[in-house]
Formats: sequence, C-alpha cells, structure tokens
Amino acid sequence: MADAEIGLIGLGVMGSNLALNIAEKGNRIAVFNRTASKTHEFHQDAGSLRDRIVPCDTIKALAAAIRPPRPVIIMVQAGAAVDEQIAHLRGVLSANDIMIDAGNANFRDTMRRFGELEGSGLTFIGMGVSGGEEGARHGPSIMVGGAEASWKRVEKVLTAIAAKYEGEPCAAWLGPDGAGHFVKTIHNGIEYADMQMIAEIYGILRDGLGMAPKEIGQVFARWNEGRLDSYLIEITARVLEADDPETGKPMVDMILDRAGQKGTGKWSVIEAQQLGVPATTIEAAVAARVLSSLKDERVAAQAVYGGGVAPFPGGRDEVLADLELALFAGKVAAYAQGFAVMAEASRAFGWNLPLPTIAKIWRAGCIIRSQFLGTLAKAFSGGPVANLLMTPAFVRMMQEANPALRRIVARSAEAGLPVPALSSALGYFDSYRLGRGTSNLIQAQRDFFGAHGFERIDSSGAHHGPWGSGAA
Ligand code: ATR
Repeated sequence: MADAEIGLIGLGVMGSNLALNIAEKGNRIAVFNRTASKTHEFHQDAGSLRDRIVPCDTIKALAAAIRPPRPVIIMVQAGAAVDEQIAHLRGVLSANDIMIDAGNANFRDTMRRFGELEGSGLTFIGMGVSGGEEGARHGPSIMVGGAEASWKRVEKVLTAIAAKYEGEPCAAWLGPDGAGHFVKTIHNGIEYADMQMIAEIYGILRDGLGMAPKEIGQVFARWNEGRLDSYLIEITARVLEADDPETGKPMVDMILDRAGQKGTGKWSVIEAQQLGVPATTIEAAVAARVLSSLKDERVAAQAVYGGGVAPFPGGRDEVLADLELALFAGKVAAYAQGFAVMAEASRAFGWNLPLPTIAKIWRAGCIIRSQFLGTLAKAFSGGPVANLLMTPAFVRMMQEANPALRRIVARSAEAGLPVPALSSALGYFDSYRLGRGTSNLIQAQRDFFGAHGFERIDSSGAHHGPWGSGAA
C-alpha cells in the first residue's frame, strides 16, 4: 500500500538516524538498504517508531510503498554508489518524483547529476546535511540546492527534522543545482580550520605550559562560557576530561596523533584555489592532517632535529587570556576566508548564495555551531560586503583580538611549537590589511624573466622595466 510520505535509501549511521528523525516527526517512511538484513534490523530496533517505518527489500518495493509524488532521500556513500542508486530509482520512479541526495557529494558530481536528469521528468535535490550521528537523529543543519519549486515541495518535512535555533529551523534553500553541496563542503573546510586551531592551542597548553589534559579541559570549559562558546569547544573540554576505561589514563593521551579525513576539507581547498580565493587557514588545516598522518617520518625527523620545545614565555594567566583571544582572531580569519570562497562561488556559478542565511542555518545542528555564527549572520545582513574583516562588528573584534594572535604566533615560533593554522590566519590578516604590499617586486621579476609587463603607480597601461641589457 502506497501510504508512506517519504522514502530513504541507505541505512548507514547517517541514513538510519535521519530515518528515525523523520519518523519521529510523524511521517511514515519507507526504507531500503543494499544489504537487506540491515533494513530488517533497523526496523526491529526502531522501538516505538517501528509502526511508522516500512522496510523494503527492493527499490521497486520502496517506490511502491510511497505515495506519489514520491520524495526519496539517498544517503549512501558519496560517489559511484549515488549514481547506482539514481539509475535504479530512474527505473521505478515516475514524473514529478523527487530524488534527494543527502550524502557528502562533491558539488561537481551534483551539477553533473542535475544535467543528466534534465528532461527525465524527475526532480533532483542536492542536500548537505551536517551534525554527525546526533544531528541526523535529533536535528541537523540542512543546506539545500536545486530548483526553488523543488524545495517548496519538501520544505515541510525538512524544516520539521532540522535543528532549531531559538525556534528558527536550520534548513534553507540556498540556490540551484550544486549550491547546497558546495556550501556543505565549505562548512567542512571551516570545520577543519576550527578543529586544527583548537588542536594548536591544546598543543601550546600541553607542551608549552606543561598542563595536564584535565586542566586543559577546564580551560576550554571556561572558554565555552565566553566568546568562543561553540559545540567544538564544548566537546574538546569533554574529551580532555575523559579517562580511558582500559588504562585509567587520560583518553586523549592514549589516542594516536594521526588524523583521518574523508576528503571534504581537501575539496574546499581545491575549490578555493579554482575560484582564486585565498583560504590559507583552511589549507593549513588540511595540510596539517596530512602531515599528522606521516607519523613514522615525524618520529624519524624528531631524532634528527630534536623535538624540543622551549618553555612558553609569559605568566600563565596572561598567556591563557592571549590564547583565548588568539583562537578567536584565528576563527575570524578562517570564517572570513570560507565566506569569501562562497561569495566568489556565488558569482562564478550564478547561485546568489544568501550568506546571512547560511550563517543562520549553521547556528544549530551542525558541527561548527556557535554563538559566533549569530554575530556573523548579523554582520552580513546589512548587505554585500567585500570580506567579513570589513564589517564594522568584526573590525572592532579583530582590532581587539589580533595583537593576542600576533603574540601567540610569535612566542610559539620561538618556543618551537607548530601553529600552522593560527600563523596562516595571522599572515592572511596582515596581508589583507597591508595597503602597500610587496608584489611590485614580483611584477618586476615576472617582467624581467618573461616580459609580462607591469602597471605603474603614476600612469596607466602596461610597462616594461629597464632590464633589457642587464637581463641579457
Ligand atoms: P555511514 O553513514 O555508516 O558512516 P557510509 O559508508 O557513508 O557510512 O554509507 C553507508 C551506506 O551506504 C550503507 O547504507 C551502505 O549499504 P550497506 O549497508 O549495504 O553497506 C550504502 N552503500 C555503500 N555503497 C553502496 C552501493 N554501491 N550501493 C548501495 N548502497 C551502498
């Protein structure tokens, strides 16, 4: 009987939690998983929600269980699996049905899929979902790309399952085709930067100040009451306070310092480069994960160069106050970069991305949720700005916070503590605020070896330098 309101394919961690969330909001949902045993296990374990879940063993059965026009969420591993499921769905869906890819797709794949489905009569939506397992279950942040009319058809169910920030749903239509997945990619790039800068500050507290994990956890817990108030700072405090049940030692000390990644951070850097937008802090964060994975090389290099860290100069209270402000300043730079990438993508792809709305739907549900995003949403709501660093509220905050970032980066360099993301944030800020930079020299060099020409400060047009005979 076709009485389900919606369908979902892929009962992995994200898919099963999203399905439970949808069912909990009063919807009847048909589910299908490639491995059928998982579908039945999921149904069995759904407790009081079992009656609202229709387990299906085939895609055909799934389509038959949903009331037309059918919305079907695809939540399988990004890549070829999505294309496979779309191909299967094309065989069983009919005109006006909607396929919603809710996985972590590369937005270029999403654009391609929109193209491939054109004229098929089927509707497609590329939807970024953030919030991990917990978010999927109780309210993620939802970033939708596709036709606005398609969004209108699924708005009710998506806003019902989304996180709420002071009552406002963290779900929005952001633009056509790849817009939703692109924004999710940049969200993840910013997330990498946030996490890396927090890890760098942890490194200073651990190796520069010699603090124990629980003490460091208390510092983060305190910071979570102030301007850094955010999910990532909150979980950092909780992580640092936890003990390993097996050894009784701090859990964090038992974890190998080799970070994994699934690729979305890398995509955000690639897209930033393609668009010609500097996103140095995000790049530094992605590179830091790669360097972290070279554990054996790092251990060998320490034997050659020594891994010694000099004590971090300054009194503890003064350094702690500086670290809080430095992390804040680094965060401003990272978000300025991420939003600049989105602004440029919006122009390049003709998406008209609503930057204040993006900041608003990141205030709850997603991994980078924070008070900060509320301030950022307000800063962008006054109309288009060149860069977050030029909005009056952030000008004031950066004026206050940048000296601390400078001191922390300088002292870390002297102490031998790596702070690649924080120092790139400072480098970005210093380069951005330098009215007279040093690229006059680069232009001279380019002209010298390649006759590329340069602009003069006192007249227009292309010019060449007097290096003809010198160059020869
Ligand atoms: P998770 O959400 O658990 O972190 P994932 O690996 O991104 O994991 O996605 C897992 C989901 O994608 C599962 O539902 C998986 O189906 P199985 O349970 O059968 O493994 C689904 N999946 C992965 N590759 C698939 C494919 N080629 N076709 C269909 N479903 C696929």
